[in-house]
Amino acid sequence: MKSTKLSMPSLKDARKRSKEAFETIRYKLNDNYKNIGDGKTYYIYTYGCQGNEADSEMMSGILEGVGYKRAVDPMKSDVVILNTCAIRDNAEQRIWGVLGQLKGRKREKPNMVVGICGCMPQEENATKKLIESYNFIDLVFGTHNRHRLPELLAKVYETKTKVIEVLSSQGNIIEDYPTHRESSYKAWVNIMFGCDEFCTYCIVPYTRGKERSRAKEDIIAEVKNLVSKGYKEITLLGQNVNAYGKDLGIDYTFGDLLYDLDKTGIERIRYTTSHPRDLDLKTMQAMHDCKSVMPQLHLPVQSGDNRVLKIMNRKYTHEEYMEKINKLYELVPDLSLTTDIIVGFPGETEEEFQHTLDLVKEARFEGAFTFIYSPREGTPAAKMEDHTPMEEKHDRLNRLISLVNEGYLRGHERFVGQVVEVLVDGESKNGEGMMCGYSKHLKLTHFKSDDMSLVGKIVKVKVTEAKTWFMIGELCED
Ligand code: 5AD
Ligand code: SF4
Repeated sequence: MKSTKLSMPSLKDARKRSKEAFETIRYKLNDNYKNIGDGKTYYIYTYGCQGNEADSEMMSGILEGVGYKRAVDPMKSDVVILNTCAIRDNAEQRIWGVLGQLKGRKREKPNMVVGICGCMPQEENATKKLIESYNFIDLVFGTHNRHRLPELLAKVYETKTKVIEVLSSQGNIIEDYPTHRESSYKAWVNIMFGCDEFCTYCIVPYTRGKERSRAKEDIIAEVKNLVSKGYKEITLLGQNVNAYGKDLGIDYTFGDLLYDLDKTGIERIRYTTSHPRDLDLKTMQAMHDCKSVMPQLHLPVQSGDNRVLKIMNRKYTHEEYMEKINKLYELVPDLSLTTDIIVGFPGETEEEFQHTLDLVKEARFEGAFTFIYSPREGTPAAKMEDHTPMEEKHDRLNRLISLVNEGYLRGHERFVGQVVEVLVDGESKNGEGMMCGYSKHLKLTHFKSDDMSLVGKIVKVKVTEAKTWFMIGELCED
């Protein structure tokens, strides 16, 4: 297939940061595209972080705004989009697998448009492979131009060629776009985009651009609107939410935002992800003062060893991390803390890994996402020497997981006998006649009921049993 290359990714350009202000674009649909989806269906596969889930909701809203209807079966859909993740190699492998299935389907249904977007196309080599080996893909776009989807699809229909538009710019901010939220009571709210931390293992600063914060007025208005529609819970999103506002050059930080959002009347506020270096006292104080800010925090530590933390460019030490969380435990004594940990970073020794295990014990984590280091092309760590055999890395991971799982169980056991408030999600997969939802501390809680009218409501549940992955309880009569 011939291709229309509007622009290709460049990791070198993506690395650049300038002091120039980014653009805030108010989404406005061009009349030329307003009916391009009439009579057609779409399906979006979403991989990776909550940021991608929010992006897919945005793309769904935009597509529905130009006439497309959501398909249930991707293989029968007229437009199929893969919203991808590039954080580790296994995330990418999954996507190559789905592309294999779509290739067969496209042979039978040549009019089906296959698009790929998100972090993977922002990488030079992934895009080269997409173009060279996956010739059936019609549309390749990145993370900075999702709002241009109607125009890009129109180009595919018009030119009948492969359309590639991946911008390696610092990015912009899009406001006022239509969004199709998957839930009517829980919502993602982006507060900032991009990342300027440049941890040496991480591809995100290259794929997502520089840190850009949304104006607080736009965020507060969005949350007030959600409250007016009956939403109960919001999760504030950003790669490093604690850096909120720094780029705006104003005297207003993430802590200030929490205080302001608490006043909107939303019942529950969560946020992710945090960087330990930027977690400040005002945010911790807000967690103590604001009733709506939930007593739960995901604070990635990555390693417990100071040399490894240094070469990861994390800019804090084991001791500084512990000092911060101990302060937070003082202010929020019932806090449920979770984290991310990487094992097998280039050069990590057994002794250094032991320092991670020590920190896990000291920090009283009640959960962790644990990963084996995955080299990402273009990042500094990918060039570091790494002599640890994969077998040894797997062994470290298994030892870490055993310890982390004790934390999961402890985090549930401490609620046995207590009444917790659960925001009900629906039927549970834990047996017939059971429903489930999440408590304030983000503990998955199952209880006996078949009353579907409880979905989206906050109910009281008395916890009777703790398991590693969830709690079981009884619905309290009010
Ligand atoms: N290899 C393994 N894990 C990684 N993460 C980010 N980049 C890599 C990588 N190259 C993990 C970090 C981060 C989480 C989202 O993914 O722990 O916090
Ligand atoms: Fe990646 Fe570090 Fe930014 Fe998180 S803070 S997105 S790990 S560079």
